[in-house]
Amino acid sequence: MALSFFNPKARSLLGLDVCSSAVKMLELSAVGRNDFRVERYAIEVLPKDAVTDGNIANVDAVISGVRNAWRRMSTSVRNVAMALPASAVISKKIIVPDGLRDEELDALVESEASQYIPFSIDEINLDYQVLGPAPASSGDQEVLIVASKKDRVEDRLTVAEGAGLKPVVMDVESYASQLAFDLIVQQLPDLHSSSLVALVDIGMNTMRLSVLRGDAAVYTKESVFGGGMLTQDIVRRYGMSYSEAETAKRTGDLPGDYETDLLPQFSENLSLEVARALQFFFTATQFDRVDLIMLAGGCAAIQGIANQVASRTQVNTVIANPFAGMTISSNVRGNSLQSDAASLLTVCGLALRRFDPS
Ligand SMILES: Nc1ncnc2c1ncn2[C@@H]1O[C@H](COP(=O)(O)OP(=O)(O)OP(=O)(O)O)[C@@H](O)[C@H]1O
Ligand SMILES: [Mg+2]
Repeated sequence: MALSFFNPKARSLLGLDVCSSAVKMLELSAVGRNDFRVERYAIEVLPKDAVTDGNIANVDAVISGVRNAWRRMSTSVRNVAMALPASAVISKKIIVPDGLRDEELDALVESEASQYIPFSIDEINLDYQVLGPAPASSGDQEVLIVASKKDRVEDRLTVAEGAGLKPVVMDVESYASQLAFDLIVQQLPDLHSSSLVALVDIGMNTMRLSVLRGDAAVYTKESVFGGGMLTQDIVRRYGMSYSEAETAKRTGDLPGDYETDLLPQFSENLSLEVARALQFFFTATQFDRVDLIMLAGGCAAIQGIANQVASRTQVNTVIANPFAGMTISSNVRGNSLQSDAASLLTVCGLALRRFDPS
């Protein structure tokens, strides 16, 4: 099967993000140039450890998660765009002369790739995207090459196909999130091209700090912190199963001392963790400020968390919402989308691949 990292040839396409905590699915449609509508989305919580560190550990559980999510979507679209974790790909920018024919470019990319990828060419998936004119040399263009080992791609294909879907794009998680981030930044008029934005994604197991200036990341660091810790506390304190605790967290259907005790403690730890990560960034780089903190990931849905992070760090803090500028279909419950939005950056970027010029 021809599978491209970029530029789907299919007209309709769902974003499908297989995360540690859940399967996320999203369908967007275009309502004019650069104007999108959220048609439908689904988040299907996965059993604990079905996906760990971006690896699909329990294939059957993930297949049924994908199948359930797709059923809940009630869509007829079966083409999906998926993503690999950044750790599963090797990418490199190369400079090539303008005006190459497609076959020439293909050959050039392949020979470049064989020089820096430590696997034989038939063990890898290779794709490239022309980024535009090379900044430093006129008459040249910049090309991004992305390669991954086929076995890292294989388990994702198995999952999608096992659920009756057709994978047509295999993107990279960080590229997809970047697309969504760019959309969000367009909604924030106070930012200019030299502003430093700290995007803090707090998911289930991992907190990722990316500091972005314009559309380039100047720093990225991951640490072990996430909502899974709070889920464990709930399991322990109230004797719930893991999946009961996950559901209860999202609906807020928990005993009174959750809101007065467990949750405030967790939020406090989270704010401290963000402050620490920023401190580390200041120490490790020449930077000594960020202009804005943008919280993403499931933990950004916690009531009042932006205020807490802002007061701990003394930095203006907002919650990431890639759908803020979009129309929302009447199929979608606005309230739920509002609280889920921050955890849908990657899947939003994937769903947007449908509109890539090809
Ligand atoms: N409304 C909510 N209130 C509190 N916590 C929530 C809410 N919604 C989701 N979460 C928590 O957010 C976490 C999942 O976030 P997210 O979907 O960003 O993680 P992930 O991408 O699957 O995981 P990771 O990034 O660590 O691989 C879970 O711990 C979940 O319980
Ligand atoms: Mg995540």
